[in-house]
Amino acid sequence: MFRITVIFAYLVTTGFTACPDAILLGPCKCTEGDILDRRYTVTCRDANATTIKAAFAREFDKSNLRTIEIWHSDIGSITADFFTDKTADYLYLGNNEITSIDFGVFDNMKAGLKTLEIYGSPALSSFDFNLLEGFQQLNKLHLAFTSITEVTSLPLLPNLSNIYLGYNLISSIEPFAFEGLTDLSSLHLNGNKLSGLGDYWLSFTSNRSLIWVDLMNNQIESITNNTFTKIGTSYEINLARNKFTTIPEEIFYPILEQLGIFGYVDLYPGVSSTDALSGNEIVCDCNIAWLVRAENSIGNRLQRSYCAHNSFPISQMPADFFDDVCPQN
Ligand SMILES: *[C@@H]1O[C@H](CO)[C@@H](O)[C@H](O)[C@H]1NC(C)=O
Ligand SMILES: *[C@@H]1O[C@H](CO)[C@@H](O)[C@H](O)[C@H]1NC(C)=O
Ligand SMILES: *[C@@H]1O[C@H](CO)[C@@H](O)[C@H](O)[C@H]1NC(C)=O
Ligand SMILES: *[C@@H]1O[C@H](CO)[C@@H](O)[C@H](O)[C@H]1NC(C)=O
Repeated sequence: MFRITVIFAYLVTTGFTACPDAILLGPCKCTEGDILDRRYTVTCRDANATTIKAAFAREFDKSNLRTIEIWHSDIGSITADFFTDKTADYLYLGNNEITSIDFGVFDNMKAGLKTLEIYGSPALSSFDFNLLEGFQQLNKLHLAFTSITEVTSLPLLPNLSNIYLGYNLISSIEPFAFEGLTDLSSLHLNGNKLSGLGDYWLSFTSNRSLIWVDLMNNQIESITNNTFTKIGTSYEINLARNKFTTIPEEIFYPILEQLGIFGYVDLYPGVSSTDALSGNEIVCDCNIAWLVRAENSIGNRLQRSYCAHNSFPISQMPADFFDDVCPQN
């Protein structure tokens, strides 16, 4: 009883951070923080750019503004003055019919922004990743269900560990685009329009021990021996539901060789959800004999790969399987 009273007294005396006057924030609403983070959240829903901008342009104490959420609003272009001087650590923009994002719009948030999520804007066809330059605290970037077609180089972002770029229309990546991300731990590019991956598209510098590279549900049929470079020993590279038909040694050996016992490449066959035609269908002929014969269990780093004609797991083929029919090199 004594303890409950003490906690109660503590809450009353320190209190949760009070929201600004509701009149100032209209059409947006404010929610007070919780015991873990007392700062408040401003949520704008089913509004439009004019009224939301007007709210952020009003003067109110922004020092305790933790999160800005804008949902289902008719925003169109996010102009550079959209947030006036307001800043937040967490910014969520979902299903707002965004068509373009002006350079500099998030600059006031540079020092503190930790999460940026923009999704559900099918008219947004490009995103300039350079507008994140200098966002030292940015930890999570989600940009999904838009129509962006290209990933250009990301600036140096030492705290960015989680990038979700799923379900856009991405078909190309600038070489070395991700090299400025020294703390990357997961990169999702699933459900895009990737068909062939060029040199250095997925070159990494992250020192994290485990990295998840999700390329599921694309239409990838070819990669080069330099597509993936500087990969650590426990990377998990998911190429499931793409369009591989073979596993060339000169391309896959350098990748598998970099992986340790905890790293793997996944070639699961299932059909890609982005075109629903065919999935990875590996032809088990002499072109994969190298893998079956490979020493140091390199073949085991290729997971969930099966011969298309009989669904036999390639990693379980005996080492001498091809010896009668395929020449040794
Ligand atoms: C924005 O919303 C306000 C309030 O609902 C409305 O009066 C105004 O006409 C809208 N503006 C536009 C450009 O749609
Ligand atoms: C990354 O974030 C952590 C925790 O918020 C912080 O202590 C650290 O200074 C940040 N690192 C950089 C390089 O800003
Ligand atoms: C990552 O590791 C490399 C080599 O071990 C080291 O030189 C570099 O300073 C590390 N980078 C960070 C950001 O910790
Ligand atoms: C990739 O192939 C090129 C030319 O075919 C070769 O020069 C290079 O050493 C290869 N890289 C790797 C990592 O095997």
